[in-house]
Amino acid sequence: MTEPLEEAALSRTGCKLGHYVVVKQETESTNDDAHELAASGGAAGAAVVAELQTKGRGRLSRSWLSPAGKNLLFSLVLPAELARHGPGLITLSAGVAVARALRKRGVDAAIKWPNDVRANGRKLAGILCESGGPGADYLVAGMGINVDLKHEDLPAELREMASSLFMETGRMHGRAELFKDVLAGLERELARIDEGRQSEVLAAWTDLAEMTGRRIKAHTPGGVLSGRAAGVRADGALLLDTVLGQQAVIAGDIVPE
Ligand code: BTN
Repeated sequence: MTEPLEEAALSRTGCKLGHYVVVKQETESTNDDAHELAASGGAAGAAVVAELQTKGRGRLSRSWLSPAGKNLLFSLVLPAELARHGPGLITLSAGVAVARALRKRGVDAAIKWPNDVRANGRKLAGILCESGGPGADYLVAGMGINVDLKHEDLPAELREMASSLFMETGRMHGRAELFKDVLAGLERELARIDEGRQSEVLAAWTDLAEMTGRRIKAHTPGGVLSGRAAGVRADGALLLDTVLGQQAVIAGDIVPE
């Protein structure tokens, strides 16, 4: 059985992120909770973790579905000094941290631009970073990682698209340990940004991205672009080498060509 989430175990992260953890049995969205925490002066690094979200959300106002008590759903309040980098770079950093934590557990995890972490073409995790405050003065980084989710827990329409640590490895994984690894990994990437070494974060992301070097099509609000995925920019835009030179894709969905 999946172990229940406990504040004491989760807050023993050994790093600044997650020094204060609130566990909710049920909430609408941990991203909303983290925004509330930040707006009421909640300390940077605080985390809200939930067993169940009733209005979990993803990119492009899509919903994020997760049955109760099986997965890791959490949101972090990130310090104001990081907010000036915007959500794009923090999304990339979180992608690196999540992909590495999954690889450590034997999963062939890779990042799909902009914010999915996948294995064998199926999504295991998603990241939603949002700015908040009157002057965009803090950031919330929300992550949903499928941990002990089983094939039969998924609605029929998601069975071919979603996966979990359990489905990839055939065994269960401790959520507290995973939380700790993701936070430690994210803290490392954020420290690089803080020290002006953000090019290292971009390089790590590019190495972990499943489409790097491959020909892809990007469906953007402005139309379809074709090219070879070359890397990412610090604002989170995907760089595509096209016949017209290098172009940046700011928003959209990508598919192999
Ligand atoms: C995506 O893939 O589109 C991003 C999904 C992000 C889901 C997480 S679950 C915890 C946090 N709370 C939310 O409402 N969303 C994020």
